[in-house]
Amino acid sequence: MIKRTFISLFGGLLFGILLSSCGGGGGGGDAMTANLANGEAIYKKACIACHMTGVAGAAALTDKPRWEENAAKGMATLTQSAMSGYTGKYGVMPEKGTCMDCSEQDMFDAISYMMDKAGVKPVK
Ligand code: HEC
Repeated sequence: MIKRTFISLFGGLLFGILLSSCGGGGGGGDAMTANLANGEAIYKKACIACHMTGVAGAAALTDKPRWEENAAKGMATLTQSAMSGYTGKYGVMPEKGTCMDCSEQDMFDAISYMMDKAGVKPVK
């Protein structure tokens, strides 16, 4: 009983914290902030094979127009496409860029890193 109460109390607390941390940024509900150092590590591990020079239809880091096109979709959509994989008009982006132990935050960071290198600012 005591344990139950504790868990529900704790759960409520956690939920409150999560909710309040989503407040910033003026809507959109995206609480993630980019860790570019982690993004670089993930990129070098999993994304570089395709995204450095644009292998198999991937957006190269030097291809600013393609990254602007990506950025326009918004970070939440891009992170989701990277997480689940995405087939578009250029080719096939594999699920998590084949980095199966990567988290959503890892995808977000790697995308932020690539955009930064391409000289494109995330739209949201
Ligand atoms: C096997 C090659 C390959 C690897 C590895 C790869 N990608 Fe991709 N990625 C692609 C291709 C091809 C596309 C273009 C799909 C299209 O728009 O037709 C793409 C598109 C994307 C997009 C745009 C998705 C959208 O909604 O338009 C994002 C974001 C992305 N990749 C992130 C990553 C990240 C992050 C990694 C590393 C964790 C990664 N990719 C690794 C091939 C790859």
